[in-house]
Amino acid sequence: MTILVTGATGNTGRCLVHQLVDAGQAVRAMTRAPQTAHLPAAVDVRYGDFEQPDTWPGVLEGVERVYLFPHVDVAATSGARFIDSASGGRFVDHAVRAGVRRFVVHSAVAAGFPPGDEPAGPGRQYLKQHLAVERQAHRELEQWVEATGAEWTHLRPGLLAVNALGWAESIRAERVVREPYPTSGYPWVHEADIAEVAVAALLTDAHVGAAYTLTGPDKITHAEQVQTIATAIDDIIRFEELTPQQALEHWIRDGVPAEYADWMLELRADSINGPGCIPPTDTFHQITGRAPRSFAQWASDHRADFL
Ligand SMILES: NC(=O)c1ccc[n+]([C@@H]2O[C@H](COP(=O)([O-])OP(=O)(O)OC[C@H]3O[C@@H](n4cnc5c(N)ncnc54)[C@H](OP(=O)(O)O)[C@@H]3O)[C@@H](O)[C@H]2O)c1
Repeated sequence: MTILVTGATGNTGRCLVHQLVDAGQAVRAMTRAPQTAHLPAAVDVRYGDFEQPDTWPGVLEGVERVYLFPHVDVAATSGARFIDSASGGRFVDHAVRAGVRRFVVHSAVAAGFPPGDEPAGPGRQYLKQHLAVERQAHRELEQWVEATGAEWTHLRPGLLAVNALGWAESIRAERVVREPYPTSGYPWVHEADIAEVAVAALLTDAHVGAAYTLTGPDKITHAEQVQTIATAIDDIIRFEELTPQQALEHWIRDGVPAEYADWMLELRADSINGPGCIPPTDTFHQITGRAPRSFAQWASDHRADFL
């Protein structure tokens, strides 16, 4: 049985490829850059682009199961919305015609939020709007898969621990992290946990028709994250607290669009006390019998990124 991993060079996809190879599976990887993919030698790496249908037959021939990376564009601004899950959806239709019988969909926690009732606190208009757009985009792709009649499992991760790589440059260069709200944080999920559940959903029948919200074990604040990374690299990292206004200016100077900066700030403000809109789940434990990987484990696994 050949398993296709799309998004195979991404954070979760790469991890999944390694876990499937370790499990002795025949893995095909789709990427737009096979020459620089750096995947294990056993993997059949093929050129493929969600936006170029003529590349799909070569990627999908002989494939029975697919890990589907979400090719959706999510851009929310205060006024405008743009959502497109169509190229990912057309890829799904083509895959079923080519013989694919099962999809494991990399989705997002927002896909499980009740429509029109995004669980952000009061006064979080930009965050609520962003979550609504995320919800729609990811849910549309999930529904596209469900409508094909193929078997499916939806994996809906909360916020990813790899988001902390956004601090890697300033940690490497200055041993500093600049953020507002040191007590803000979420139960960051390790990409290896998502990959592990994906392996189970691809290889066994136990998860067909399930939608899983995956998080890390507990809320870890930004200040705790920074301290944990410092421990992993055995050095001191300064947490430089920004005011909300300074944070907006800092992100915009770094190239974040202004309308993104607004919801990024509200996302952080939402979890100053408690886990905000993404409380921890025990899904990973229920599936594997083990606790989810901790942020300390993640920091140790990514030590080299911060040195
Ligand atoms: N960040 C979070 O906290 C979070 C939480 C939950 C869900 N999510 C969702 O997870 C996704 C994460 O995205 P990311 O930016 O972090 O991904 P990433 O890990 O950086 O991976 C991006 C992957 O997408 C592939 N890709 C991009 N465009 C492609 C195309 N046109 N055709 C084929 N492959 C393409 C890339 O492959 P090549 O470049 O090799 O072609 C790469 O493997 C988003 O959809 C997001 O909504 C994120």
